[in-house]
Amino acid sequence: MNSPGVDRSDIDNALRRLGGGHSNFLRKTPLFKLPGMALGLNCREVWLKFEHLQVGGSFKARGMLNRMLANKIPASGVIIASGGNAGIAAAAAARSLEVLCEVFVPLLASQAKRERLRELGATVIVTGAAYSEAQQACLARQRATGALLMHAYDQVEVVAGAATLAAEIEVEAGLPDSVLVSVGGGGLIAGMAAWFENRSRIVALEPALAPTLFQARQAGRPVDVAVSGIAADSLGAKRIGTIAWALSQRHVNDALLLSDESIRAAQLWLWTELKLAVEPAAALGLAALQSGVYQPGTDETVCLILCGANVDPATLSAGRHPGPGSCHPGPDPGSRAMSPLDCGSGPQ
Ligand SMILES: Cc1ncc(COP(=O)(O)O)c(C=O)c1O
Repeated sequence: MNSPGVDRSDIDNALRRLGGGHSNFLRKTPLFKLPGMALGLNCREVWLKFEHLQVGGSFKARGMLNRMLANKIPASGVIIASGGNAGIAAAAAARSLEVLCEVFVPLLASQAKRERLRELGATVIVTGAAYSEAQQACLARQRATGALLMHAYDQVEVVAGAATLAAEIEVEAGLPDSVLVSVGGGGLIAGMAAWFENRSRIVALEPALAPTLFQARQAGRPVDVAVSGIAADSLGAKRIGTIAWALSQRHVNDALLLSDESIRAAQLWLWTELKLAVEPAAALGLAALQSGVYQPGTDETVCLILCGANVDPATLSAGRHPGPGSCHPGPDPGSRAMSPLDCGSGPQ
């Protein structure tokens, strides 16, 4: 295995680091196998990787911890701009290592997220109307303090950390025929690509309202994309990461788009049928199967990554549709209603 940006030794190092003394921080998440017919599908099997049970509620904890363990952390700690799961994962990992963590979040990040970050011991700096402004402020602060800069998806250790999720699947169950992966900035799919390479078929899934990799493939290079919609809080990166772009050109077979309605229906199905509380970003794989956007063969074993749990359970009853463009984990108490564009507050 040798892929640009992230090679086998990066992943081996990540496996060693994350499986070492910190194995009591990260969780080996369960793999749940169902016959295709249990989901009303014609394929042989569907594997659900319960990564929503990971520390911090998403796969991001793997990459964040790996980056921290791979580097000497200065007294000023670690620093990241993120309004979402990467920030939560960074704060949780920093707490486990007993290092300082500063998280820059845009003004649009909900009060609930800010509170969660503070509960995890992070210093939260609220600045900028959009993620890009929070990122600029974060970079300026990093230059001043020398803190270890964390990126939500475009650093080698972050991608290698995500690749440990793929390794975990193969060690437990062997190779699936195909893996359906939600894409934001591309750290998760880059990890899948770096590990599986062309041994399993890798399919990128994005909301039609946040088509970052899809548009890059159309243009032949990463381009800025307008993002909104039900999953923009997690999948709303405006541009695909450089590592993901390089790896995806070699190892990603297809990039497919899904409607917000199909994502929401799959998210509700997971709740009503399996009692799994996942955020919209984690429902794209099932949405692709149930909507027929991805049609597996009759002999195919398909693996879906349930990549995140950060959802307000109150939004999971069919009667309480948060509406397209709604941001989980729910509106700030007392704040103005959110518009679809508000969700573009950050990819992480
Ligand atoms: C739950 C969840 N799934 C998927 C993604 C997409 O990950 P990436 O940005 O690495 O593509 C994110 C990103 O924040 C996420 O939080």
